[in-house]
Amino acid sequence: MKQGLFISFEGIDGAGKSSHIDGLAQAFKAQGRAVTSTREPGGTPLAEKLRGLVLNDVMDPLTEALLIFAARRDHLQQVIEPALARGDVVLCDRFTDATFAYQGAGRGFDVNVLSTLEGWVQQLPDTAAQDSIRQPDLTLWFDLPPQAAAARLAGARVPDKFEAQPIEFFTRVASGYAHRAAEQPQRFARIDATPARHKVWQQLTQVLVRKGWLSIMVAANSGPMG
Ligand code: TMP
Repeated sequence: MKQGLFISFEGIDGAGKSSHIDGLAQAFKAQGRAVTSTREPGGTPLAEKLRGLVLNDVMDPLTEALLIFAARRDHLQQVIEPALARGDVVLCDRFTDATFAYQGAGRGFDVNVLSTLEGWVQQLPDTAAQDSIRQPDLTLWFDLPPQAAAARLAGARVPDKFEAQPIEFFTRVASGYAHRAAEQPQRFARIDATPARHKVWQQLTQVLVRKGWLSIMVAANSGPMG
């Protein structure tokens, strides 16, 4: 059986991840891989309920962080770990880097507390590997200036609690992603999300082809949806 692959997608709101996630799901399927597409906060019935609270209700920063990590724990146990154990490609729209970027850098919440929660929640099921935690094999970080992201989002839909934040918030979130990427360069691939969608797609598929996870043929014959 093929080894599972865990790929997360990150970036500020409006960076344009979604159509590329759908495109990559199709590309991996065309290569005969089973794909689990999921998202955070969410991905299970319980975590989707918590998502509704986190995105819509006003709460203090610790409550918010606890709910996000509670949702993550359920998601890992119910969906992500079983899918990786089956050998699926797991495509996850946001994961823990979003918590460091939004709650840590954006809201100014204590990143040491976030690191502690990360260690508890993402503990590997294999007890022999107690000092390492579950992280994506690859994080595709869609980097886009906050002004450009705001222009893309304007009028697109009713904003949730985060989307309604001012541009300064997203500037901090973007620097949070940059910081996390600098700390873990082996896991992060920065994608310049400014150009047209097909150019962004080319960058994404180049990363996956270079890793040997996607064939050049499949990459050339697939594209972002929508
Ligand atoms: P989405 O709109 O990309 O699905 O993301 C939902 C929102 O939740 C988005 O504004 C980012 C935010 N978020 C956090 O604040 N912390 C987190 O840990 C995650 C996963 C998302």
